[in-house]
Amino acid sequence: MDLLKWGRSPWGEWVLTHVSWNLFWASLFAGILFFVAHASYMLFSAHRKRSTEETDALEAARKDLPAKIERHNLTARLFHWVMAAAMFVLLFTAFLPVVGYRFPWVTWHWIAGLVLTGSILFHIVHASFFLDFWSIWVGPKDIPEFKAELMREFGHEVPGPKPGKYPLGNRLYHLAQVVAGILVIVTGVLMMNRVRTPFFTRNPYLFSDATWGWTYVGHGLAGVGMVGLVIAHVYFAVRPEKWWITKSMIFGWITRRQYLEHHEPARWRVVGGGSTATKPTGQA
Ligand code: HEM
Repeated sequence: MDLLKWGRSPWGEWVLTHVSWNLFWASLFAGILFFVAHASYMLFSAHRKRSTEETDALEAARKDLPAKIERHNLTARLFHWVMAAAMFVLLFTAFLPVVGYRFPWVTWHWIAGLVLTGSILFHIVHASFFLDFWSIWVGPKDIPEFKAELMREFGHEVPGPKPGKYPLGNRLYHLAQVVAGILVIVTGVLMMNRVRTPFFTRNPYLFSDATWGWTYVGHGLAGVGMVGLVIAHVYFAVRPEKWWITKSMIFGWITRRQYLEHHEPARWRVVGGGSTATKPTGQA
């Protein structure tokens, strides 16, 4: 199976031109395989939230907490849905032609690309200065949580730490999206030099054929990777046991009980009145 496509430059050299669309089918297949495998596994998996008795006791002890706890403020939710809309337009405009539906996709594609780029730049500023920047990142400090979650997955009740604001899987997912997102955005912005836009004069000679080839391959690899990542994300969002998280991305809050059931209060501190403040993950 070919993974990359090659072509001849005007000087007769073989240069890379694109990724092979076999990779798109492979990523689509991997995404679908993942959700079938995960859904089957979940039929047998132990639940990972706190037991009812433990949550009851915590609720009795934490009467100071508001009934509704803010998880995503309005700005964060608006960013999420604008980014999601741009992402879907990008995926459909890029891959509908691959599956045989031909239309003038390029203009819609780069417009959605600029919306995605703008929304992510906004998100970086918002998360750095107005949210708890470190709550989404994952590192060696999370090894105890990883071990505890693994033990719970095998049905053991262990006292180890629960997640802070974001579950481990969400933090790993965010990291994968950061890597794919940076690659697709940097290459996409460069590729705008190859198409007609109102912003600057088209300049296909900006790079050599070989460099353009690598740019298209980088864009294609990140793009097909996103097919699998987006399928996995939507799959988790629609799973009934994750609705409480999905609903919080629509309405902004979770209940006090959900907060105590799924989180480590010491790692995601909630202050009165429903607004929240966090300390860096892992600190009490
Ligand atoms: C989810 C994100 C994205 C996906 C899945 C995606 C996918 C793709 C794919 C598969 C192609 C065809 C590449 C090829 O022919 O080798 C493409 C082309 C292109 N993309 Fe994206 N892309 C994304 C984001 C972006 C962004 C953020 C921008 C710009 C800011 C952008 C701008 C472009 C441009 C200008 C082309 C070139 C069209 C041409 O040369 O005919 N893309 N994209």
